[in-house]
Amino acid sequence: MSPQNEQWSSRYGFVLATIGGAVGLGNIWRFSYVAGENGGAAFLFIYLACVFLIGVPLMIAELAIGRRAQGDAISAFETTGKTSRWRGIGWLGIVTAVLLLSYYAVIAGWALRYAVGAVTGTLWRAAQANYGGYFKQFVSQPVDPLIWQGAILAITIFIVSSGVRQGIERLNRLVVPVLAVLIIVLAGYSLSLPGSGAGVRFFLAPDWDALRNPEVYAAALGQAFFTLSLGMAFFVTYGSYMPRTFSVPASAMIVALGDTLFAIISGLAIFPAVFALGGNPAAGPELAFVTLPQVFLKMPAGVFVGSVFLLLLAAAAITSMVALIEIPVSAMIRRTSLSRRGATIVMGGSVFVLGIPSALGYGVLSHVRIGSHGILDAIDFGVSSFLLPVAGVLTALYVGWRLNRTMILNETDFGTRRIGVVWLWLIRILVPVAILGIFIRTLWAS
Ligand code: PHE
Repeated sequence: MSPQNEQWSSRYGFVLATIGGAVGLGNIWRFSYVAGENGGAAFLFIYLACVFLIGVPLMIAELAIGRRAQGDAISAFETTGKTSRWRGIGWLGIVTAVLLLSYYAVIAGWALRYAVGAVTGTLWRAAQANYGGYFKQFVSQPVDPLIWQGAILAITIFIVSSGVRQGIERLNRLVVPVLAVLIIVLAGYSLSLPGSGAGVRFFLAPDWDALRNPEVYAAALGQAFFTLSLGMAFFVTYGSYMPRTFSVPASAMIVALGDTLFAIISGLAIFPAVFALGGNPAAGPELAFVTLPQVFLKMPAGVFVGSVFLLLLAAAAITSMVALIEIPVSAMIRRTSLSRRGATIVMGGSVFVLGIPSALGYGVLSHVRIGSHGILDAIDFGVSSFLLPVAGVLTALYVGWRLNRTMILNETDFGTRRIGVVWLWLIRILVPVAILGIFIRTLWAS
């Protein structure tokens, strides 16, 4: 593989690839149901605060050490601090990415199955409008979900094997602009439906009482980490393919804004339609797979609109799976003698096996409960409410307190500008204290 293929070709390519990594199931499937369950607009308010006060500073930190190290997630936490004591953060990021990918591939597999069904028409005919039953019947089968999980992983492996530039960047250059246009069109359509106003109010008119509920804060923080792809060494990895000439703070701001806009516009595509056609906005993880197809069937031109939506969901999932698998793959290529192709296949195979319990958790393994959660739900809860915030606190402490102040201000491209000092104090104090505060408050309340 030529070394050139292992670096972004341009700033535009880098930004698109990074937005493609950030925009995924988290923006459409997860954001809509988490917002729906946590009171809509009140949640949105805290979520935005988490994105810009905690997320963006951390993203800047991750990108800066990735670009400086030009290495994998583990070495980035060694070489920048000249000590290997902190490299556990890199390992933690890699392990979390693999865990997340294991169940992400299962849901992405559902999305692919629904998208194919929508385009071929089987989704609209077979269900007889009972999508609750349809969904249960599909996810409880012992083999079908595994086939779709395997299929979407195979696509991911194919792309990542082709390299950073020829594979990852090329895919995102193609897909991300299309996703952006489609979601805007879908939102416009949904807002034009009679009765859509109730959905807009639910999503955008704050109910301040919800701010007293500690669970809303924990949900907003977990969602911010998940959707921005923080705490998984993702920005360390993509940052390592970034030449010094790309600005770190500008890139972080564009990616965070792009990701947030995408989530909000998805909300404006989903909630108005759900309200206009009488669905339940707090349906939980099944919102995209049960409520929405039902809503589509009742909508004018719904078969077409629904097919577009599901294709969009599957495509957004693929660009994120590519990003997720690249985290361990990049470390494997740099640390073992495996080729990119070999590493991707080994990792893809391992992720498939690891994801089997999640895939079967709605059928053969539905008796396995962890607390009140099924298998997939329990792993998602552990990852987003525990592992990601812990990695966030550790990264903030490492970058804020362990690294040399002048060095990190230079590496973030802030240099001597005053805004750099603001960033530094956000990372040193606000980020760790806010994350720990939300953590402790949630534990206290439960
Ligand atoms: N942010 C992605 C989403 O919202 C998930 C992801 C996490 C992707 C980490 C890459 C790395 O779906």
